[in-house]
Amino acid sequence: MKNLLLTGGCGFIGANFIRYLLEESDFKGRIINVDKLTYAGNSENLAYIESQFSDRYIFEKKDICDFKGMEEIFSKYLIDTVCHFAAESHVDRSIVAPDAFIQTNIIGTFNLLELARANMDQLILFHHISTDEVFGSLGNRGFFTEKTSYKPNSPYSASKAASDHIVRAYNKTYDMPTTISNCSNNYGPYQFPEKMIPLMILNAIEGKDLPVYGDGRNIRDWLFVKDHCKAVWKIMKSGSRGETYNIGGNCEMKNIDLVEQICDLLDETTEKLPNRSRKELITFVKDRPGHDRRYAVDFSKTKNNLGWSPEESFKSGMKKTIQWYISNRKWADRVKSGEYRFWIKKQYR
Ligand code: NAD
Ligand code: TYD
Repeated sequence: MKNLLLTGGCGFIGANFIRYLLEESDFKGRIINVDKLTYAGNSENLAYIESQFSDRYIFEKKDICDFKGMEEIFSKYLIDTVCHFAAESHVDRSIVAPDAFIQTNIIGTFNLLELARANMDQLILFHHISTDEVFGSLGNRGFFTEKTSYKPNSPYSASKAASDHIVRAYNKTYDMPTTISNCSNNYGPYQFPEKMIPLMILNAIEGKDLPVYGDGRNIRDWLFVKDHCKAVWKIMKSGSRGETYNIGGNCEMKNIDLVEQICDLLDETTEKLPNRSRKELITFVKDRPGHDRRYAVDFSKTKNNLGWSPEESFKSGMKKTIQWYISNRKWADRVKSGEYRFWIKKQYR
């Protein structure tokens, strides 16, 4: 893998992955990071990488929906590997404004696959980053496996499911070397503070309301972002072409328990709020439509075939995450002062 096209590298997981590849992994090639810099993308996330790895890291501001622009990238950099993170990623936004989700997540992925197909002679791998949300919602028991049928419930998960199917079809029809990973909810540094964990951390630090949807008993499986990065790299190196791999944290939690833990950790480690515990900030608000009740991931295939398991415990990962947001309050203010400010949560409320 000499010339890796990585899409969406200025977002949360992409930025962590680029850091991991260049600073810690045995990857030896160069990375061409293509990102449109939507409200969720921030090139500042990689300023340090740009200065430290100037010979192995290139940034190109481009939209993956721009076929001509992406064609230039493939030929200019002799792309031999693709790792595709770029997406619209927030379920709440997909409910209010699904259009961009259909464009980027489906058409954008299709463009990349077409260009990879046109460059098949030199293509080593097309790795597609996906989510456990494509499987829909679980009852009280059971886990998603790689064989679980797709039943997406939100415009976000439906758009990701569509893109997964197209990747699969390119493997079956054109024998394209592809892999897909379906991962559970990530948390860690650089996550845009509209997602549950950074939103709760920042609001709790500032003494603002902590809005928990519905009865707070929806369950998510949480994974520290660096563990996700390690899994993706293992799959890229050793995963069987044409296969899909589940990635999970072995860490199911009810939303309300998670928010309470964040409150307790903040009360223990930072200045207390005057006369009250942070848990008193919890406010139950109207539920998200189509809100999936429970996600839980069986990642035994990835564990047994590739030797990957999560390394970070929830407590240690959460402590690192809280510490990062405390030390990077200005980052959070800056990213929130962009387009996000104008996205009025007109919502479904
Ligand atoms: P994010 O929203 O933080 O980042 C997405 C990045 O993609 C941003 O930098 C954005 O500018 C870029 N982008 C969006 N549209 C683009 C376009 N048309 N052209 C080029 N770049 C574009 O998302 P994330 O949380 O880092 O998620 C990355 C990937 O991982 C997504 O595919 C998502 O579906 C998947 N995933 C996320 C999670 C999670 O918990 N965050 C879990 C499983 C899978
Ligand atoms: P989120 O981080 O948006 O991820 P996803 O919807 O992709 O799983 O939300 C995680 C869980 O937290 C989900 O069950 C919805 C819930 N949630 C809240 O209760 N309040 C909030 O303000 C947000 C953003 C999410």
